[in-house]
Amino acid sequence: METLIPTINRLQEVFLTLGAEIIQLPQIVVVGSQSSGKSSVLESLVGRDFLPRGSGIVTRRPLVLQLVNLFPLDSLFSFSVFHIQGISPEPIYLKIFSPKVLNLTLVDLPGITKVPVGDQPKDIEAQVQEMILSFISNPNCLILAVSPANSDLATSDALKLAREVDTDGRRTLLVVSKLDLMDAGTDALEVLLGRVIPVRLGIIGVVNRSQHDINTQKSLEDSMKDEQAFLQRHYPSLVSRAGSRYLAKTLSRLLMHHIRDCLPDLKTRVTVLSAQYQARLNSYGQPVEDHSATLLQIVTKFASDYCNTIEGTARHIQTSELCGGARICY
Ligand code: GDP
Ligand code: MG
Ligand code: NA
Repeated sequence: METLIPTINRLQEVFLTLGAEIIQLPQIVVVGSQSSGKSSVLESLVGRDFLPRGSGIVTRRPLVLQLVNLFPLDSLFSFSVFHIQGISPEPIYLKIFSPKVLNLTLVDLPGITKVPVGDQPKDIEAQVQEMILSFISNPNCLILAVSPANSDLATSDALKLAREVDTDGRRTLLVVSKLDLMDAGTDALEVLLGRVIPVRLGIIGVVNRSQHDINTQKSLEDSMKDEQAFLQRHYPSLVSRAGSRYLAKTLSRLLMHHIRDCLPDLKTRVTVLSAQYQARLNSYGQPVEDHSATLLQIVTKFASDYCNTIEGTARHIQTSELCGGARICY
């Protein structure tokens, strides 16, 4: 599995060198009501806590996290303006450079709000909705709809918005957060099994860090251990299909499916490019080695090595491999 990320990234690099389009990995966008746990979910995916998080509208602007596969550099850039009033559709970009990540974009959106507070505009609900819709209507976007377990799924704003743009549910994954905060004597089993509302790509329950955990600086690693223990105790039948780690694996698998779906088209394009370059080289009248054949071999090898065993490889994908070791540089 360690070879998967370098291989995909190498493929992207070769395409870039050739001036061809790279594989467009889907943007992953989190949607949900205020304080539903969106930022917490993204953090556990990236494996680093650096997002503004907490009660109230903490994320006031879209935060576009660009994971960039690069060797570590010393001086890196990003800009972030978190303490602004009101909300704004202008995204904040944060780049995370690491040799261990896929070139992938994650988007943290302001939460869906109902009632304006402070000096917020009266139409804040409409404004936020419009902003969210503008991101998630992109057909190349995977929607992570986050809904807390302690509120009624039937009224989930996240799912409602997702359905508006993804009517057949091909790109919406439901994340049920706050499993630990349900009333005594209740559980989310029926919800997680899809018996309340079925979700085509799946429903994954998670336990993120509580505000107390954050205040006492509980590490993400410890949090994941405790999450596993919680699931083992309360949802033993679902333990292999729930939790942050499983969410990361599921996302990796969805990305792999996407890449697999792109491959036939990529191969065609490589063949065409190859013929074009060859024709151009021939017109120069000098014998030159045909490097494009190598590219075709890489694509073909990639297809057979990885995509035929996609289910197998997906099982080995760990959060740490998808996103770990991310270096965030301010
Ligand atoms: P966002 O507004 O949707 O981005 O939500 P945040 O990720 O900022 O989380 C809001 C608050 O809920 C924070 O205080 C988190 O610590 C807390 N929180 C998020 N997920 C969970 C969870 O699964 N369990 C518990 N106990 N608290 C959570
Ligand atoms: Mg947030
Ligand atoms: Na919600």
